[in-house]
Amino acid sequence: MRHEHIISAKQLSRSDIEEVLDRAAEMAEDPQAVADRHAGTLLGMLFFEPSTRTKMSFTAAMKRLGGDVVDMGSVESSSVKKGESLADTVRVVEGYADALVMRHPSEGSAKMATEFVDVPLINAGDGAGQHPTQTLLDLYTIRENAGFDDLTVGIMGDLKYGRTVHSLAHALTEFDANQHFVSPESLKLPRSVRYDLHEAGATIKEHTELDVVLPELDVLYVTRIQRERFPDESEYREVAGEYQIDAETMDGAKDDLTVMHPLPRVDEIAYDLDDTTHAKYFQQAHNGVPVRMALLDLMLGGDQ
Ligand code: NCD
Repeated sequence: MRHEHIISAKQLSRSDIEEVLDRAAEMAEDPQAVADRHAGTLLGMLFFEPSTRTKMSFTAAMKRLGGDVVDMGSVESSSVKKGESLADTVRVVEGYADALVMRHPSEGSAKMATEFVDVPLINAGDGAGQHPTQTLLDLYTIRENAGFDDLTVGIMGDLKYGRTVHSLAHALTEFDANQHFVSPESLKLPRSVRYDLHEAGATIKEHTELDVVLPELDVLYVTRIQRERFPDESEYREVAGEYQIDAETMDGAKDDLTVMHPLPRVDEIAYDLDDTTHAKYFQQAHNGVPVRMALLDLMLGGDQ
């Protein structure tokens, strides 16, 4: 992984993933041991779309390794507003940093950006494409709570536009998980993702109702309807508010079902579920720091 770009979960093998998760566990256990490991390293932050968790946890991770960040700030306050191309922006910013983290609304943008830079670039979300580092922290959370043996996962919500889903499904295939996808007909997995999963040997089933599959699940991964990606607001309104769960929904689930969500949530998970032992989404968000520390450390050659 040293000096590699991280663009898609498709490029991560099971052993790559386990290496990151093992190192993340060590770092979570003893963060002081690595507090100066990357002193002087600068991470360039290019967020062309809103972010709370991804941006803040990458920032925290770099600082906890002794480094720092240089941040383009919002699109509104940068030269992107003056019409600068993505290629020019990344070419300039690579001169200010040792690695880059980029989020952009266009699918394929992260891959495209790598053609213009030599420093390693991490895709922190490219439109409805991929979000591989979210997947790493999702898997860390799954390993902590359910383990990978004989794992059955339900993924529910916006499977069409949800990039966290596209990345996670690929990685779960590496772990031979049984995958159930639950969504309205109009938000099913894109054909290209389904094709790739089949090619990779995934075991997947698609449903429009949660209750038929809920009793089998070890993990339920809920996602937000990605309103900003709908070409037409009326299409969004047709599906908004469907597929909500609450504490009562858990009556039909295994006692140790792990409920996850990449966050932010809108109304998919009622607040009354937060107080149950099923709710792991805040723990999941916290795991972003050790997991991104481990990934940065491996990319930047911390073990050399
Ligand atoms: C996700 C994203 O940006 O794709 N957020 C995150 O990084 N945790 C999920 C979402 O926005 O729904």
